[in-house]
Formats: sequence, structure tokens, C-alpha cells
Amino acid sequence: MKETSVLCLLFLISLLSCTTNQARLTVSPSSSQFFKRDFVSLSCEEDDSSDGWTLRRNTSTRQRTQCGDGWGEPAGSSCNITVYQSYSGVYWCESREGPISNMVNLTVAGGSVILQSPVLPVMEGDDVTLRCKTKTTPSNLPAAFYKDGSLIRKQTTGHMT
Ligand SMILES: *[C@@H]1O[C@H](CO)[C@@H](O)[C@H](O)[C@H]1NC(C)=O
Ligand SMILES: *[C@@H]1O[C@H](CO)[C@@H](O)[C@H](O)[C@H]1NC(C)=O
Ligand SMILES: *[C@@H]1O[C@H](CO)[C@@H](O)[C@H](O)[C@H]1NC(C)=O
Repeated sequence: MKETSVLCLLFLISLLSCTTNQARLTVSPSSSQFFKRDFVSLSCEEDDSSDGWTLRRNTSTRQRTQCGDGWGEPAGSSCNITVYQSYSGVYWCESREGPISNMVNLTVAGGSVILQSPVLPVMEGDDVTLRCKTKTTPSNLPAAFYKDGSLIRKQTTGHMT
């Protein structure tokens, strides 16, 4: 009887450690759209600071390359990146044992205006701020926001929540 409880406990503990051994990929500044030459820092944050995580990405030209391998500069558990258009792609953290974090799509715009939205996911009921940003001028220019082709709001400040 005692042995069974101990086994159950061990099983529970291993289950718990499995579920907590998860990394989260965070993007700073929190956005998934950038202009070229913007500075972006991606961090692999883990619940327990045990094993190393590697930041990897897929772009249209190369798959599964890691930070420092021709792009980005490793900085502790972060990766400092000056982004270019070819850096658009999907980014994730991966540990040696295989688990992977959430994935984040980053888009680097070639044009002069972007609609900045937060890194997904957001939950129903959350406040979400969308920002119209121009490359050259500071933001807060008046902007009109459209959804599926219909005007939903005009904002003098360039962002809407
Ligand atoms: C990245 O590319 C590899 C190789 O093509 C593919 O197996 C993997 O599923 C891709 N990962 C993501 C997150 O798209
Ligand atoms: C990464 O960026 C941070 C924040 O700007 C800076 O303090 C740090 O020196 C950078 N590290 C490297 C290795 O470039
Ligand atoms: C990233 O973008 C691709 C192509 O648009 C899409 O198929 C994929 O679901 C996106 N992944 C995430 C995590 O948003």
C-alpha cells in the first residue's frame, strides 16, 4: 500500500516536472511586425532554469537555423536581432531533449507603414491595441482602421484598443 502511494507520488512529480519544463518564447518589443533594421530581442524563458534552450527559425530560404548562425547575436537566454525582410519567418525555442516552445511568426515589412499587433495568442475579452506605425515619423499620426474592407474607426492618435 505504502509502495503504491510512493509510486503514485513519484508519477505525479514526474508529470508535474514534465508540464513545467516548458519554455516560452517572448518577443521584445511585443509585436510581430517590424520594419527592416529594427532591433528585436527574442527570449526563451523557462519555468525552471535547468537546461539550455536554443532559438531556431525557419525562413523561406533556410530551415532550423539557430541564433548566431548567420543571423542574430546570442545574449544569454536571449537573441539580439537587427531584422531584415528576409528574416520574416517562424521562430521557436527548442531544448536538446526535444520539447519546443510556442511559435511566433515575425514579419519584416518592406513598405513604409505597418499595422502592429501583439504577439499572439490573445484571449477572448482581452484588450488588444493595434498601432499604425510609419517608418520615418514618430507614431501617433491620425489613422483609419479597416476590418475586412470596412472602415471601423478613425483615430487621431494612430492606435486603437
Ligand atoms: C521548419 O522546417 C523544417 C524543415 O523543413 C520542418 O520540418 C519544420 O516543421 C518547420 N518548422 C516550423 C515551425 O515551421
Ligand atoms: C543585447 O541587447 C541588450 C539590450 O539592448 C544589450 O544590453 C546587450 O549588450 C546585447 N548583447 C549582445 C551580445 O549584443
Ligand atoms: C505562421 O504563418 C504561417 C503562414 O502564414 C501559418 O500557416 C502558421 O499557422 C503561422 N503560425 C503561427 C504560430 O502563427
